[in-house]
Amino acid sequence: MTYENLQISIEDGIAIITINREKALNALNRKTMSELRYFFETEGADRTDISGVIITGAGEKAFVAGADITEFQGLNAAQGKELSQYGQDVFELIEEFKKPVVAAVNGFALGGGCELAMACHLRIAGEKARFGQPEVNLGLIPGYGGTQRLIQYIGKTKATELMMTADMISATDALQLGLVNYVVPVGDEVAKAKELLNKIATKAPGAIAKIIKTVNAYFAAETDGFASEVSAFGECCATEDFREGAAAFVEKRAANFKGK
Ligand code: CAA
Repeated sequence: MTYENLQISIEDGIAIITINREKALNALNRKTMSELRYFFETEGADRTDISGVIITGAGEKAFVAGADITEFQGLNAAQGKELSQYGQDVFELIEEFKKPVVAAVNGFALGGGCELAMACHLRIAGEKARFGQPEVNLGLIPGYGGTQRLIQYIGKTKATELMMTADMISATDALQLGLVNYVVPVGDEVAKAKELLNKIATKAPGAIAKIIKTVNAYFAAETDGFASEVSAFGECCATEDFREGAAAFVEKRAANFKGK
């Protein structure tokens, strides 16, 4: 696929995806969503040369200011459902991606932008980042998983308030509420995301994939998280990386994981 709205570079085994619609504050139009879908379903899933992914936004103002509102006019109920389902499906691909995905939030993360950041496994916020779910201003509700994930991250009390008031919160408030992992100076978001991913890349990739799977299992209605942990733990024990990790500990040396 030729990407129009995503800029993708590979640096030190990390795929850096920049949502590149700066004039529209990187709003997620259908084309951008389909490109994200292609990356996480096909290209990124097939690549063996990446250990993780960073998603960020072009420019200094916005990570992503939401779904593209210009595409919303005239939507009927059936089309609205289809749009919401499509968005949820794309973000689920990110949440279930087998390698760690970090959002480097460099500005506004509103509506679908906040939902995109929440679909990632970890979030780094620049000091000027602002988070919010302002859909009620449009007579809407969050539609790309936000009503559910915001509660998962910050709890029902504050999530309900933010969704009802459309208030934006600062990066430091987001840190305090548990919505982001770190707040860094403006411009350092991607560097911090890389630092985290480089650290994670020293661990056994199969174990990292199973952390993603079992953490997601906690929230999935159809799975029993504890049962998922038991089976993932058992699968880890059958890997070469587990034998290497345990041997390295006993031999007092660094483990050399091969992803097998
Ligand atoms: N969709 C389409 N275009 C958008 C956009 C969006 N979500 N957000 C900003 N833009 C465009 C603006 O229309 C403007 O374009 P023009 O220059 O052509 O007029 C450009 O980006 C710059 O924006 P502003 O002039 O508004 O910049 P500002 O600094 O005054 O305000 C802002 C910044 C507070 C983020 C404001 O742009 C804003 O409120 N944006 C909309 C945020 C929003 O409501 N997001 C939720 C969308 S709905 C959704 O996401 C549903 C869902 O759950 C899936």
